[in-house]
Amino acid sequence: MKAWIASLIFAAILVGVMLSARAAPQTDPLVERGRYLVGFGSCNDCHTPGWRESGGTIAVSRWMTGSNLGYRGPWGTSYPANVRLEFQGISEKDWLFMVRTRGGHWPMVWHDLRFLKTSDQRAIYRFIRQLGPRGVAARADLPPDIEPKTPYIWIVPH
Ligand code: HEC
Repeated sequence: MKAWIASLIFAAILVGVMLSARAAPQTDPLVERGRYLVGFGSCNDCHTPGWRESGGTIAVSRWMTGSNLGYRGPWGTSYPANVRLEFQGISEKDWLFMVRTRGGHWPMVWHDLRFLKTSDQRAIYRFIRQLGPRGVAARADLPPDIEPKTPYIWIVPH
C-alpha cells in the first residue's frame, strides 16, 4: 500500500476515535458509587418523604429532598434537611469537614458516615449534588420546650 494511502486511513481512524470520545458523556465513577452508598446508607429513610411507605420505589429524581416529619427528643425537634438544596450551597471540602466534625442532633447518622473512606464520602456528595436542586428547605429545628404543631416521631429513652 502506498504510504500516503496508509496515512490517510490512519488519519481517518484518528478523527473517528476523537469524535467518538467527544460524543461519549463524561461520567464520574464516584457518582454511581454515591447512588449505591446513599441507597444502602438508609439516607432516603429519613430524607426522602414517603420512602419507607413506598417500599423504596421512589424515583431517584425525588431522592433526598428533605422531610417535615420531625424527630423529637431531649435535644428538641430536628428535621431531615433537604440535602439537594444544601449541597448546592456547600463545597465537597465543606461536606468532608462536616462529616469529620459534626455531632448533629439525633437521629442523623454522622457517627456512621465517619467509617467510610474519604472517596466514599466524596461519592455521596457528588451523587446528590449532580441530582440538582429540588423542593423546599425542611423546617427549622425547635427547642426542647416547644411542642411541634406538625407531625413528629417522639424518641424518648425509657
Ligand atoms: C434516621 C434519620 C436519618 C438518616 C438515616 C440520615 N439522616 Fe441526614 N439528617 C437527619 C436529620 C434529623 C438531620 C438534621 C439534624 C442535623 O443536621 O444533624 C439531618 C441532616 C443531614 C444533613 C444536613 C447537614 C446540615 O447542613 O445541617 C445532611 C447533608 C445529611 N443529613 C445527609 C445524610 C446522608 C448522606 C445520609 C445517609 C448516609 C443521611 N443523612 C441519613 C436524619 C437522618
